[in-house]
Order: sequence, then structure tokens, then C-alpha cells
Amino acid sequence: MKKAKLTLDKDFVVGEIDKRIYGSFIEHLGRAVYGGIYEPAHKEADELGFRKDVAELVRKLDVPIVRYPGGNFVSGFNWEDSVGPVSERPKRLDLAWFTTETNEVGLHEFAEWTGKTGSEIMYAVNLGTRGPEQARDIVEYANHPAGSKYSDMRIANGKKDPFGIKLWCLGNEMDGPWQMGHKTAREYGRVANETAKMMKWVDPSIEVVACGSSSSEMPTFGTWEMEMLDECYENVDYVSLHRYYENPTGDTPGFLARSMDMDAFIKSVASMCDAVKATKHSKHVVNLSFDEWNVWYHSREADKELWESDKWNKALPLLEDIYNFEDALLVGSMLITLIKNADRVKVACLAQLVNVIAPIMTRNGGGAWAQTIYYPFMHASKYGRGTALNAIVNTPAYSCEDYDEVPYIDATATMDEAGNVTVFAVNRDMESDYELELDLRSFGELSAYEHILMHNDDVKAVNTEKDPENVTPVQGPGGSVSDGRATIRIPSLSWNVIRFTK
Ligand code: AHR
Repeated sequence: MKKAKLTLDKDFVVGEIDKRIYGSFIEHLGRAVYGGIYEPAHKEADELGFRKDVAELVRKLDVPIVRYPGGNFVSGFNWEDSVGPVSERPKRLDLAWFTTETNEVGLHEFAEWTGKTGSEIMYAVNLGTRGPEQARDIVEYANHPAGSKYSDMRIANGKKDPFGIKLWCLGNEMDGPWQMGHKTAREYGRVANETAKMMKWVDPSIEVVACGSSSSEMPTFGTWEMEMLDECYENVDYVSLHRYYENPTGDTPGFLARSMDMDAFIKSVASMCDAVKATKHSKHVVNLSFDEWNVWYHSREADKELWESDKWNKALPLLEDIYNFEDALLVGSMLITLIKNADRVKVACLAQLVNVIAPIMTRNGGGAWAQTIYYPFMHASKYGRGTALNAIVNTPAYSCEDYDEVPYIDATATMDEAGNVTVFAVNRDMESDYELELDLRSFGELSAYEHILMHNDDVKAVNTEKDPENVTPVQGPGGSVSDGRATIRIPSLSWNVIRFTK
């Protein structure tokens, strides 16, 4: 068995973890809303038409914030279409996904749903086909107490108290030519600046996220951030990052190394924020919102066929990736990467939450089940709160096509308010188990521990409605703990959560 060592100290701290890094995303896309969270004819539907079985799976993930209503969708969306009597709401062609949006679910209904799941809304405004005026109006509608056109409209629509939405996205992926109203960095930066100013004049308590690059692979990545921030730095609070990974060739070691790219992306964007801060002689710190991240590639071919056969239909089953075991391992490493960068990443959204590139799947009229990626996300959200610790990991490493020095053991650790310590570790080694030696002496007595493990001999193993527990966590082999030192066996290709409690 190979060996690795992890040294922790309660004073080696990365930073406080903002719980919003365990956020997710619901877009009006595919069956995320219609046939996902909302299906009034389903036997599990509640009085508002939301599926109780789906809400229960979401609650178990403890998602503090949900980005809404898009995504690419938002760049052609008129928020006014989605409020008021449902029977009077217009049906619209959605040019982002070539489907028809009925607006049956809008802001009021979605806020009811997030109330049930214990989440807050992160609301995106349309800076594609619209601009600062409509963004100002929706802040007034959502957050102003009363006595103005839009706040009174909200009250007339049945919501006396403001929604109190605290976090707002200034558009979506405005660097991408696929986006309705695509802009250059300078054009977007100017609009983002004016929009942020006006939104904050309506409600000074809000925070806003400016669009960074839609991927680190965009040709404009870097210049986009620098030019855009040069226009709006003082008025924005976060820059967004989006990144999806894929494994079309079946290169598992190369695929599992992709979180190194995510780490480099985060560090580059943080550096760019700080570079602009320096040029402006500013004291204002702009942090990061990694508000779209996941694996995404399994459904691409099926989607092309759907658009050819069923364009403009409602709630097409788009982007329905079926996630396998190796996807769960990479998602685990992406969560580790977010925790490692907790000093700069304050918001992150697993994209998305239900049916659309999602940890939760449903069948119309049928069941709801957890995909493989559900579990690492649930573990990190549940146990990865408090303080991110700077774990020193000594591990053998490997090389693959795009990276050298890829650690076989990818690990980080957190400490909660009660002093309990949780280690998250992915073993990327396809051949070997590891004996992981942990030095925990600085924490004093940690009497009990638990080892949660996800492993499958088949990297392509999936969960389905018929076999929903094919890939699920089990108790791990554990090891020995004494005098502040532990030795735990980490099986080959596995996701591990090792919890030491006071
Ligand atoms: O999450 C799916 C899509 O991916 C989003 O609508 C868009 O922002 C990104 O390109």
C-alpha cells in the first residue's frame, strides 16, 4: 500500500468558509423548473404544485443560495412577465434554449419554493436585451418596502413584505457570442457599473456580481476581466467564474486532474481583481463568485437531436447528464478546490440542481433520485462549514497529458465551531490504496471519528430510477487513532470524508 501524509494545525487557517460556496442554480431551462421542482399533476405535488420529494432531496443538500432564473435564459427575460396573475402571463420564445417559456413559475412562486428548501435567492438581471432601468425596477419590486410603483405592484400581487434578495448577478456570460446582447468587455463594464450604481441606490444593502469570463478557455479570458473591472471595480462586490469539465476520451487520470485547472483559474481571477485594485489605489476588495461549476458533456449529442426534432416545445429534457462514479470524484475534487480557496471564493453554485446537469433527477409522473455527484456535494455542504484549514499534504504525484505533479491524494480540511475536524480526500490513484497518516496533535483530544467512503470498481457506474443506490456512500475501512495521530486507509479511486469529533 502506498503512503501519504496530511498535517493540520488549528492555527494554519485559509479563512472562514462562506456557506454560500455550497450554493446551486435553477434556470428556466429544460426540466429544471417544469417537470423538476414543479409538477402540479404529480402525486407528490404540494398545494403550489412543487414536488415534495424533490424539495426533500434539495433540503438534504442544505443549499444556502440558489441562482435564478438563468443562465443564458436571463439575457432575454422580462421579469415583469413572471409576476401577477398566472393566467395573464405571456408565453415567450426563449432564444437561449429554443423552447417556449410559459412563465407559470415566476419570482413569487420560486420564492415560496426556496422558503421550503431553506435557501435564499441569488437573482440575475437581464443585461443582454435590457439594461440598468429594468434592473433598477426589479430591485424596487423585490426589495423596496412600499409606496412606489413596483413595490406597490408586488404588494398588489400578494406579497406584502419585500423578498429581501441580497445577492444579484449583473447579467450572465456577457463575454460569450452565444449570449443575447453579447458585449465587449468595455461595453459590458460600463453597463455593469451604471446598473450596479442604480440597483444599490434603490437598496444599498445588496451585493452584486459582475460577469467574468464564461470559461478560462475563452480567447478573451484575462483581458475581459481587466478591462471590465477597470470600468466597474468600485461598484461591484464579486466577479463570476464559470467552468465545466468533460471526459470524452475516457482518460480518467487526465479527467480527475481537471480540478488543478479550476485552482489555477481561481488564482488568476483573484490576481486580476487585485491588480485592478492596485491600479485604482483602492481599498475595496472584489472577491469571487464561482457561480457555475460542474461536469457537463454526457448530454450534448442528445440535445442536438432534441433541437432538431422538437424546437420551441416546452420543458424539453435538455442537458440531462447522467453522472457516473468518476464524475463524483471530480466533483469531490472541485469542492476541495473551493474550500482551499475559501479566502477568495465567497459564493459558488453547482450548476445546476434538478434535471439540468444536476445532482437530482426526476421522471415526469415518476420518481426522484440522487445522482452520483449528489453525495460529495451533500458531504461538503453538511460537514465543510466553519474554517478552512491549510492542509499540508505529502503525496506521490503523477503526470498526464495536460498536467505534471498531479497529487494522487487531493485533500483539504475544515474545522467547525465546536472544534470538530473534517478531512475531505480524493484518491486519484487507479491502482493503489493509500495509508493516509494524519497529524492532528494541535487539536487536543479528538476522541471519535467516522470514515465515510464512496468507491466503485466501475468508474462508469451510475444511479438510475430503478437502481438509485448503485453508487452511494458507505462506512469506510477507517484505521487507528491515538495521541493526535491517525492512520486511515483510503481505497484506490475514492471519495473520503473523515470526521474527528471532540
Ligand atoms: O448551466 C447551463 C448554461 O451554461 C448556462 O445557462 C450558461 O450560463 C452556461 O453557459
